[in-house]
Amino acid sequence: MLSQVSPSLIARELVTPKFLVLWTYLVSALYVHFRGKVRHKFTRQLTDHSTFMAPYNAMIYLFSAVPNKPVLDVKDFPELQPLQDNWEMIREEARKLYQGGHIQISKSYNDLAFNTFFKRGWKRFYLKWYGDFLPSALDLCPKTVELVKSIPSINAALLALMPSKAKLGEHRDPFAGSFRYHLGLMTPNSDECRIYIDGTPYFWRDGQRSCSTKPTFTV
Ligand SMILES: [Fe+2]
Repeated sequence: MLSQVSPSLIARELVTPKFLVLWTYLVSALYVHFRGKVRHKFTRQLTDHSTFMAPYNAMIYLFSAVPNKPVLDVKDFPELQPLQDNWEMIREEARKLYQGGHIQISKSYNDLAFNTFFKRGWKRFYLKWYGDFLPSALDLCPKTVELVKSIPSINAALLALMPSKAKLGEHRDPFAGSFRYHLGLMTPNSDECRIYIDGTPYFWRDGQRSCSTKPTFTV
């Protein structure tokens, strides 16, 4: 026969380290889920990567030096201005890469972060990904590499290609430790070419910066 467990014993158990870890996960996952205006269905959020990253991301959201909002003003990042100033040069190198067939999907689907994007036609060419510049980038778009090199705060850079009519699914980006900066290079210059961030559309246009965001709910 089981002996009766006293409420004070249960209360003490609930503040042991293993439960504190559980509470931290729960509270931060709820914070991520309810942050902003747009959210996943609760069942999808349960298994989404943003839930597993929630404790780290919640800490970044709460203690970052920049405002805790989905879209930041690019004017607050003047060091990025040379990218826009040189957008035609970047476009020229991007055009050559495209014509040479170098902007591709991952052939082995081993680029976990973007696997679902690849299935919808999204293609990319990495310049740099949290480390040194890729040899292919040094080789094929040297001027853009030099430009990105001159801005040390850029941790990762890539050229992305979305075919006509392609649409990426709603998602939360997994990692809150960096900002995204988008610069349109070859676009239809139409309102049809856009990204929604937390329910608000932002339009890609040639040579225009669209947004600098903290990871949030995007489609
Ligand atoms: Fe994203």
